[in-house]
Amino acid sequence: MSSSTRSLTAPPDAFPVLRTEIAGVSVDELARQFGTPFYAYDAGKIRERIEDLRAFDAIRYAQKANSNLAVLDLVRREGVLVDAVSAGEVQRALAAGYAAAGDPPPIVYTADIFDREALDLVVSLGLHVNCGSPDMIDQLGQAAPGRSITLRVNPGFGHGHSRKTNTGGDQSKHGIWHEQLDDCLRRADHHGLAVTGLHLHIGSGTDLEHLSQVCEAMEKLALAAGRSITSISAGGGLPVPYRSGESYVDIDVYYGLWDKTRKRLESAFGHPVHLEIEPGRYLVAESGYLVSEIRAIKRMGGNTFYLLDAGFNNLARPILYGSYHPMSIVPRGGDKSERPLVDVVVGGPLCESGDIFTQTEGGFVATRNLPAAQVGDLVVIENAGAYGAVMASNYNSKPLAAELLIRSGQAHLVRKRQSFEDIVRGESIPATE
Ligand code: LLP
Repeated sequence: MSSSTRSLTAPPDAFPVLRTEIAGVSVDELARQFGTPFYAYDAGKIRERIEDLRAFDAIRYAQKANSNLAVLDLVRREGVLVDAVSAGEVQRALAAGYAAAGDPPPIVYTADIFDREALDLVVSLGLHVNCGSPDMIDQLGQAAPGRSITLRVNPGFGHGHSRKTNTGGDQSKHGIWHEQLDDCLRRADHHGLAVTGLHLHIGSGTDLEHLSQVCEAMEKLALAAGRSITSISAGGGLPVPYRSGESYVDIDVYYGLWDKTRKRLESAFGHPVHLEIEPGRYLVAESGYLVSEIRAIKRMGGNTFYLLDAGFNNLARPILYGSYHPMSIVPRGGDKSERPLVDVVVGGPLCESGDIFTQTEGGFVATRNLPAAQVGDLVVIENAGAYGAVMASNYNSKPLAAELLIRSGQAHLVRKRQSFEDIVRGESIPATE
């Protein structure tokens, strides 16, 4: 499906509150087979979102959104390149079959610092680096002079769905400050590093209006950097609707703006300019479902709480940003009884009051209108494929959840639920004094 055949705004019935299946597979069956909670990813949806972006010369997946090896393998087979922000993400990319080097580079290390492990890995594997600080240029230049690099520039403005996901402007730690570009080009020269590209990413979950401003900034910066620039990256940030009425960015319009920018640079430079996009959320958010079981239903004054076996140890977005995720109820055992809608608070099992999925930014508890449910019914937290499992923790010594990839109506276990042994691996008790 191309972006032009999809409605740009999520319709009123985009997120049904009752469901029985995910990607053609019975959720009840999955829960029986794998236990709860688990994440399920619909491979077909990831492939559809990749197709939307084919106009760009390269799609580089920001794996921080979901770095399960099976997801990386899936996108690699679709010809999608990958971004890595740590030594661990580099190793994941390699484990999923990406080559270290190539043109364009299959893996790009993009960060604001090198920890020592990452610097060693980047140097020994010859990985391409997108430098987000002047110190990175010096450190790479000293360790591996003569390489090509790209620079991630902070254009002085940014925008995201939350202050915490805005990556531009002087409140953000990301990228090289735009007024320091010249100084950084000189630093690169000093080390014999060729600056072949620029990269701008202003934030996550932004909108077309803000994204469009990036093209203008890119053009100015690239012209200032000069003819050594042969590639530009639009970064990520494409939003997905989490509620009815919210919009997608019109990809055709967005691509058009970037293509014009690229063409103007090509005519100024007299050589081709490669255009990349670096989405995380857009490719995987809608593919992911966190499936949990209702383990208790309590009344607290006027509020009814559904307490699940999944909490912010599994999905941290609501407690971190007040993020809204669509939810649905799966009746157990084929129960088809009428389910009137009721207002409920949905929370998890953790010993912390903030363990509430229906909260708004600032920690205010809200309610959700869901079909009446019983202990044992399932709750599916939807659009959870991006920044879900990757931000999970072992808080309260809860194991990381199982992850499933559903492909052609078949569920594959792509991450086993952690065991107690996994949780305490590496811990030890010193011998008594
Ligand atoms: N490129 C760079 C350099 C980034 O820093 C990011 C996201 C992306 C690409 C991908 O952005 P996306 O297309 O996913 O918007 N945990 C937050 C999001 C943090 C995003 C961090 N950087 C959340 O759950 O909303």
